[in-house]
Amino acid sequence: MEQRLGLVTLGADPVYDRAVEQRPLGRSGVAVSRIVLGCGNFGGIGSAPALVGHGTSRDEAFRLLDEAWGLGITTLDTADAYGLGRSEEYIGAWLRTKGSAVRDRVVIATKTFNPMAEGADRGLSAARIRRQVETSLARLSVERIPLYLAHEFDPDVPQEETLGAFDALVRRGTVGAVGASNFTAEQLAEALELSALEGLTRYEWVQNGFSLLARENRQTVFPLCHEHGLGFTPFGPLAGGWLTGKYRRGEPPPAGSRMTLRPEGSERYRTDATFDALEAFEREARERGVSMAALALAWLLHVPEVTAIVVGPSRLEHLGPVRDALEITLTEDERDALERIFP
Ligand SMILES: NC(=O)c1ccc[n+]([C@@H]2O[C@H](COP(=O)([O-])OP(=O)(O)OC[C@H]3O[C@@H](n4cnc5c(N)ncnc54)[C@H](OP(=O)(O)O)[C@@H]3O)[C@@H](O)[C@H]2O)c1
Repeated sequence: MEQRLGLVTLGADPVYDRAVEQRPLGRSGVAVSRIVLGCGNFGGIGSAPALVGHGTSRDEAFRLLDEAWGLGITTLDTADAYGLGRSEEYIGAWLRTKGSAVRDRVVIATKTFNPMAEGADRGLSAARIRRQVETSLARLSVERIPLYLAHEFDPDVPQEETLGAFDALVRRGTVGAVGASNFTAEQLAEALELSALEGLTRYEWVQNGFSLLARENRQTVFPLCHEHGLGFTPFGPLAGGWLTGKYRRGEPPPAGSRMTLRPEGSERYRTDATFDALEAFEREARERGVSMAALALAWLLHVPEVTAIVVGPSRLEHLGPVRDALEITLTEDERDALERIFP
């Protein structure tokens, strides 16, 4: 018997569900662990072709997968284009080392939209979806994908065509349920209406960015989730690392950090107002004797609309605050007070 992160694991197959609770995802019939292991750093940084090889190595990915599984994290988030296929390949290779106790229980969410190479095709046409799902199955070494997402909205393909392709995959059993990522409320509302009108499988959950530093979805997408009983599984829970306090006012970002490799999207946080809020949040975390990362993740776990959060550790030590967050209980007042720190 070995000890990992304070949890008991037995031989190669850990005793799961010790720490991480499971939640139903919308009305999909699929349950996810409240913490989802984001594998967007495996073999690259997201889907950026220029950053292949800059992400988490295969060995470190295996260590992260083992530790996460030991914590009770049974849901993995990836995409066909992460590391241009490497993320799915690493997960597939890891699964091949596991027995049925892991393989029968793991819930993989993968996505399609982005090109698989510089200049390659992209999008959500029916033909491309049919091709990409087959390549994902092969890389992941599985016969079925429980959760499949549109990685982005595709303005060039009618939503009927995409939903029709997804519907066929669900009916065939290749995919368990489908979700929408990076959709606006308007795009999502149109998709839900089309699914209802045409009797097609609907998007059961949304994966958009949401954190203490990015709460726009509360006004836009959350009302739709309420109305239609959809799940919500935010990515970017630490705003790309900003909520850990690793980026300091007036100082260059730490060598090798996300802000040195892929600053797009997070550059907007480099303002005095954000640094003021981060410093106040740091004081709050220190008073509670927890890390900023743990408190930011705990805050998200206390947002009622959030089904599960997709964390993005790039190395093993980043799982420490994830474990700590599970131990933090906030009252509604405390949760709201943390939110008020961030204008
Ligand atoms: N659907 C989509 O379009 C989409 C978009 C983005 C992400 N995702 C998914 O969501 C997952 C999480 O998103 P995210 O990567 O943006 O999450 P995030 O938690 O906001 O940012 C992750 C980054 O924060 C830093 N970090 C994490 N834990 C840390 C810690 N304890 N101490 C210091 N730094 C820490 C690491 O940065 P360094 O690399 O600098 O160490 C890591 O790469 C991804 O893996 C992916 O699966 C989906």
